[in-house]
Amino acid sequence: MNIQVVHNVNEIHCNILVVNQFEGEKTSNEIANYYAIDKDGFEGKFGETYLLQTYDKIPASKILLIGFGKKEEFTPDRLREAAAKAIKKSMQMKAKTVAFSLEGVNFDYSEQFVYGVKIADYSFDKYKSEKPDKVETVFVQANQSIVERTEKIAEAMSLARNLINESAQIITPQFLADVAESLDLDVRVYETDEIEKLGMGAYLAVAQGSVQPPKLIHMRYTCDNPVKRIAIIGKGITFDSGGMDLKPASSMLTMKDDMSGAACVIATMKALTALNPNVEVHGIIAACENMISGGAYKPGDILTAKNGKTIEIDNTDAEGRLTLADALCYACELGVDEVIDIATLTGACMVALGTQASGIMGNDESFVKTLIETAKQAGERFWELPLWDEYGESLKSSFADMKNTGSRWGGASTAGVFLKKFVKDVKWAHIDIAGTAYFEKPQKEFIEGGAGAGVRTLVKYIAG
Ligand code: BES
Ligand code: MN
Ligand code: ZN
Repeated sequence: MNIQVVHNVNEIHCNILVVNQFEGEKTSNEIANYYAIDKDGFEGKFGETYLLQTYDKIPASKILLIGFGKKEEFTPDRLREAAAKAIKKSMQMKAKTVAFSLEGVNFDYSEQFVYGVKIADYSFDKYKSEKPDKVETVFVQANQSIVERTEKIAEAMSLARNLINESAQIITPQFLADVAESLDLDVRVYETDEIEKLGMGAYLAVAQGSVQPPKLIHMRYTCDNPVKRIAIIGKGITFDSGGMDLKPASSMLTMKDDMSGAACVIATMKALTALNPNVEVHGIIAACENMISGGAYKPGDILTAKNGKTIEIDNTDAEGRLTLADALCYACELGVDEVIDIATLTGACMVALGTQASGIMGNDESFVKTLIETAKQAGERFWELPLWDEYGESLKSSFADMKNTGSRWGGASTAGVFLKKFVKDVKWAHIDIAGTAYFEKPQKEFIEGGAGAGVRTLVKYIAG
């Protein structure tokens, strides 16, 4: 789909002219008003739609009225959702060209408009013989530069969604490394022997049960005089079987999505190459599979992480924190100002927040607050979970410095406290996207599958 910014949408020859109406008000689009004298109870309630025939009297073949709710309750989030809804309706009607008349909508909202249409336009149909009908062109009166910029981020988001939706038989650690290397960035991929030399014993133990070798991916976005230096780390478990502590079938079903953090990091790095912010960014992924085999790591094994700390394996299904532990040590050694990790880390986070919000915690209050606020601006939801030391008490081990799991209760925070032990002298935030990375059924503007969680927020945080 391409988006064209125009001055007068009423003059556009299109299959559908989408016209907004605030609740209890007449639409200020005069043409729509003419046709909409009899609207059978359509009041403009948020999300309500009503289709009008134009009998070829105006350039648009049909008018789709869409309710924007009460004017005083209107937000950019609502614009995104309504735009997505209009696109979905248009696709159902097999419309190829759709023009949006957004009367009374602030041009600053253009960003969420673009996200709405682009997210709704997304499909993962490469394995389907029958492809869905797509809208080809969207015409809108909007802020041109915001539209162009947001389209680039939306493209990156679609890349993340493709990587998540693609099966684990394709998306191996090597595949992720190849995607990273295809970007216009300085990329280094470490092989098994090099990862050993780096002392990443926790990460390697997770990888050892698979025939797919691990790949430690380090992408670097640089510029002349960076205002700050940031590392973003994505959990890159390309399939999580649970290992020897094998997952039940129903829990394993979606575990190709356990590299959603990595997909977010790759997508964010790609967006940076298009936006050119004045920041130095390191994208780090300790990619591997968590498999069951004769060579797999076992409960009771004691591993040594990059920072020398020892970990007794209590549960091989708590593998993400092991790979992240070593990746965090690696990132801290770069001497960056800030580290953000993003991971499908705990079922407990999903139990706590459902699919509505990602969990966030960190070691610096204002850093976490800024990220929560940035998420809100970007159209995502982050919700802070506590990182109190007490959550770490159940991680005590009789044989090593710590175990990799503790009590079931408060599992998202326990995982956070575990990660914190590998963070040194840096502002750090941890984002748990277990509930938001992958939707098992359609949700608002999203179809089922990968959602590209975190991309909009990380790009906004880094590039503004
Ligand atoms: N990848 C899972 C977490 C997950 C669960 C992501 C559901 C998305 C949806 C993670 O590796 C895992 O298995 N975590 C365990 C930890 C437990 C053994 C302490 C969990 O949450 O059950
Ligand atoms: Mn697991
Ligand atoms: Zn996992």
